[in-house]
Amino acid sequence: ALISLRQLLDHAAEHNYGVPAFNVNNLEQMRAIMMAADACDSPVIVQASAGARKYAGSAFLRHLIIAAIEEWPHIPVVMHQDHGMSPAICQRSIQLGFSSVMMDGSLGEDGKTPMDYDYNASVTREVVKLAHACGVSVEGEIGCLGSLETGMAGEEDGSGAEGVLDHEQLLTSADEAEQFVKDTNVDALAIAIGTSHGAYKFTRPPTGDILSIERVKEIHARIPNTHLVMHGSSSVPQEWLKVINENGGDIGETYGVPVEQIVEAIKHGVRKVNIDTDLRLASTGAIREYLANNPSEFDPRKYFKASMVAMSDICSNRFEAFGSAGQA
Ligand code: G3H
Ligand code: 13P
Ligand code: NA
Ligand code: ZN
Repeated sequence: ALISLRQLLDHAAEHNYGVPAFNVNNLEQMRAIMMAADACDSPVIVQASAGARKYAGSAFLRHLIIAAIEEWPHIPVVMHQDHGMSPAICQRSIQLGFSSVMMDGSLGEDGKTPMDYDYNASVTREVVKLAHACGVSVEGEIGCLGSLETGMAGEEDGSGAEGVLDHEQLLTSADEAEQFVKDTNVDALAIAIGTSHGAYKFTRPPTGDILSIERVKEIHARIPNTHLVMHGSSSVPQEWLKVINENGGDIGETYGVPVEQIVEAIKHGVRKVNIDTDLRLASTGAIREYLANNPSEFDPRKYFKASMVAMSDICSNRFEAFGSAGQA
């Protein structure tokens, strides 16, 4: 059944669990997520990014999610729009039937320029008004996602930002978080604690100075009734990097957010955990490995099957670790 983000996260807060939010772009990801949810009896959040809309088209994405709800009617599904860069984009998603939207006013419409507090609060408030009138939930973001190691914000290669950000911008302050929730009435709040999108998050296994779970605790203590969201929360499994690199790939040494750190954050108010990169890595690794081992095979269903199994395995692992397994 289709449910709103608010309904799911209220339940998650009451029962002390977190829910992974997986990005979907195609049939294989959608089925992999749902097969794992079914096996683990977990509710799911599936989210469509601007890149996904460009790749698959809004209508296909929408129908993929509707098809999943039809095939697995006993699994609660949140259909979420990831990183909406304007109220107009969010409005369109609401019209298409999404049960939740993210208004990301931390960045401008170009998706890379850091914006000030007043802009962010004003576009987010506008979306909350519109969405709540339709029973749709809203996620906002305060603070700029980026690396505390390099000071770079934005995209995975560090090219996203207009410049280098200081420590203050890369860590959401409890004061701003509290004010932002008061000013906007968002259902869930994404915070910056040192994570970034993509595979290149940390040059070494992260310690507290570059991944601040302490900041999660501070913010949660200040706004205990707000559901917190962690973006850039792929763990970047070393075993999949190895499979990719052993089968013709070339990905440099890099580290993600350890699952144990996410589990710790879930104890302190994090309810939605965004994961995209991990499924990309598992899918690519499985396909590279399958093709290397089966050089004469040319039926795409064979290697897509391997990709689905690999992605599904990651999903099951996260449902179990975050405690959403058994909660459907
Ligand atoms: O927000 C980042 C997600 O990983 C989606 O990325 O726009 O390339 O689909 P994308
Ligand atoms: P990852 O790149 O760590 O998977 O993060 C995805 C994300 O935050 C999508 O909004
Ligand atoms: Na989102
Ligand atoms: Zn994100």
